[in-house]
Amino acid sequence: MPFCIFDATTGRVHVDMTGHNQSYWKQGDKELRIMPKRYQRREQSMLKKSLAALAISAALWGSSAHAETISVFCSPTEFELCTNVANAWKEKTGNEAKINKMPALLDDAIPIYQQLLAAKSKDVDVLFLDVIWLGMFKSNLLDLKTMIPQADQDKHFASTLNAAKLDGNLIAMPAYMDVGLMFYRKDLLEKYGKAAPKTWDELAATAKEIQDKERAAGSADMWGYAWQAKSYEGLTCDAIELVASNGGGTIISDDGKVTIDNPQAAAALEKAKGWIGSISPEGVLNYDEEQSRAVFESGNAVFHRNWPYVWGTSHEKGSNVVDKVGVMPLPVGKEGEKSSGCLGPMYYGVNKYSAKPEVAADFVNFITGPDMQKMRALKAALNPSIQALYSDPEVLEKIPFLKDNQQAFADSAVRPSGYTGTSYNRVSQAFYRSVHDMLSGGAEVKSSLTSLAGRLEKLKESR
Ligand code: GLC
Repeated sequence: MPFCIFDATTGRVHVDMTGHNQSYWKQGDKELRIMPKRYQRREQSMLKKSLAALAISAALWGSSAHAETISVFCSPTEFELCTNVANAWKEKTGNEAKINKMPALLDDAIPIYQQLLAAKSKDVDVLFLDVIWLGMFKSNLLDLKTMIPQADQDKHFASTLNAAKLDGNLIAMPAYMDVGLMFYRKDLLEKYGKAAPKTWDELAATAKEIQDKERAAGSADMWGYAWQAKSYEGLTCDAIELVASNGGGTIISDDGKVTIDNPQAAAALEKAKGWIGSISPEGVLNYDEEQSRAVFESGNAVFHRNWPYVWGTSHEKGSNVVDKVGVMPLPVGKEGEKSSGCLGPMYYGVNKYSAKPEVAADFVNFITGPDMQKMRALKAALNPSIQALYSDPEVLEKIPFLKDNQQAFADSAVRPSGYTGTSYNRVSQAFYRSVHDMLSGGAEVKSSLTSLAGRLEKLKESR
């Protein structure tokens, strides 16, 4: 069982996410510190005392100062951006936001949040939230409906804002849009006279041909396609894209029917299984976004599936593919199907147990507002959730494909977190583990989908 402890004397959050021998804390951009298990029990019994001490010191602090300090969880890849936001907010309000880096794999933040929120901890005020977590944490997030001015709410895409309205409460504000996209080496496609592929079969054929020719010409490490097939939430995204764009649905339909056991889904996954070791390295079975990006940006992949931020990173210093990158919607399984990039907007919400709800809500409105979304778009190519920025010349210059992405958002595959709510994580785990077993060779695709569907029937109802 993972647990999380706040140590009031050091001001550190200790987190055990493995349930085995270690725990760690993160503060600012510092990395992990391992703590032996025997200390964890002692720390657990200190939890109540620590929280009480913290509450007292927070109260004293609050009464003796004008400016407030809040604590914010931020994605590890956006630490610098969040620090920029905190600096700008401090300048505007005098208040301080302490930025805590989340674990490298976002999935690992779930048990931390669960532990903090179950303990009604006040240690963290603002939480960074994946769209699929909204249902999971809805009862622990503050209703922002009346705390964020209506005019500010109205600036965001209505569908993205509405996804955060649950049980009549506005539980989070959109920070940026995410949708699965296909990046490719436009220089290599040009060199070999290839058009950007429309179907997954065309992609595989082009990937194989260019990979083989580049290897023969001396690029021994070249691969055709780098994507994410590690056993984690990212694989749910990659697999749902393949399945949905082949007419195989999105695991569980909006009205709660388990749809995954169908021939189109099986055909799409069978195809992907054939890519491992052929156009994608065996290592892809252990790649998340950052590992697959490293392969592409070192110049060793023809195609790369990832989120829009790769447009920014692949053009930064240190990338070997600056000005060699093209981007397009994901291919389809067959002509006539919709390109189905996984939809992944990200949000910020306020911990319902925060001792400073107004200050925290003000920070959320600031970090998700037009100025900070523009800054993130310009610095990191993150796609805004604010409509007006889609006609901002500076933003369009930085992200030339931004306008087309509105179509990608409209055609996207939505994971079944709306119906499954609090059980989404278990549903997704069952799906990605089963897909990982298929891709890594052990499990036969068709029969695996049948037994997966049986498990999902039970899991989906435990919400
Ligand atoms: C991105 C998406 C998020 C998704 C995650 C999977 O961060 O925005 O929705 O769950 O990738 O790795």
